[in-house]
Amino acid sequence: MNPPIVVVGSFNQDLTWTCAEFPAPGETIVGRFQTGPGGKGANQAVAAARAGGATAFVGALGHDGFGHEAETFLRSEGIALHLARKKKLPTGNAAIFVNRHGENQIIIALGANAALARRDVPAALVRQARVVVCQHETHLALNAHVFRTARGAGVTTVLNPAPMRADFDAQILDLTDVLVPNETEFVALVNRRGFTEKKLHALADHDLHELCRSFDVPTVILTLGARGCFVSQSRGHLAIPAHPGLKVVDTTGAGDAFVGGFAAGLVRFDGNIAAAARYGNAAAGLSVTQFGTAPSMPARRDIDQLLKLGRARTRPPSA
Ligand code: RIB
Repeated sequence: MNPPIVVVGSFNQDLTWTCAEFPAPGETIVGRFQTGPGGKGANQAVAAARAGGATAFVGALGHDGFGHEAETFLRSEGIALHLARKKKLPTGNAAIFVNRHGENQIIIALGANAALARRDVPAALVRQARVVVCQHETHLALNAHVFRTARGAGVTTVLNPAPMRADFDAQILDLTDVLVPNETEFVALVNRRGFTEKKLHALADHDLHELCRSFDVPTVILTLGARGCFVSQSRGHLAIPAHPGLKVVDTTGAGDAFVGGFAAGLVRFDGNIAAAARYGNAAAGLSVTQFGTAPSMPARRDIDQLLKLGRARTRPPSA
């Protein structure tokens, strides 16, 4: 049987430098270096698998050391792999700077990811899934193809429009069931002169909901970092706060933890969007307490424990 969660997307080898503060243009500073598996697609697949969802990953790698390590790592996570090898291209990679506040700056080179093609995506795998997840680190036309295939079979399509790109075609929203942008991506999607992240944060829930409804996507989930997330559907909206008291070490990949956790939650809670969003929110909260991206994705038992703790905290004191 094919897995219920299919992630089509990127793998990047993450090359990460930690520093006290980001260097200014023209400045050289001394930092510390680590490398590990990443890429939004692979991170989301790992997040979904660790969160308890049987997951397949469709991606492209180069014929190089990073590509071989990637395959070994993803296999060790128990993910069903459909990897295309692109002989003439390097495996994707990312230069990541993380400062002492856990904030990041990232430059990616797509490499093999950009060459992931329709023929590399098994149609039966997509059609037999319950949830299909795409992001923006492959060819964007491929996402439309994958979503068309999924929609034809009644499979839920989840788009994480990260990173937002100049060649984004809003027509994909017609094929999207759940849109999961972060604040930067949301501002870009709204695409209104003068609309900034600051203005977004100042919106009342009702107005934010109205704005989400303007995309005409059944469910929009805006991830808000330390503020949690906001879920908007035609029947109403819901603000889910972040879990308090978690020590932030590295926020890189938190969005991916949310998306992967959400996908696993959708399957586990039988399509219940609010329960899945809470699950993704808890996964994201835990991921920032660990360094790295794919390796920082939390396990199902830790997500369950955090949610249980949250419920105990919000329960009214007994009389
Ligand atoms: O979302 C985090 C990811 O963005 C990193 O793993 C990096 O590879 C970039 O794709």
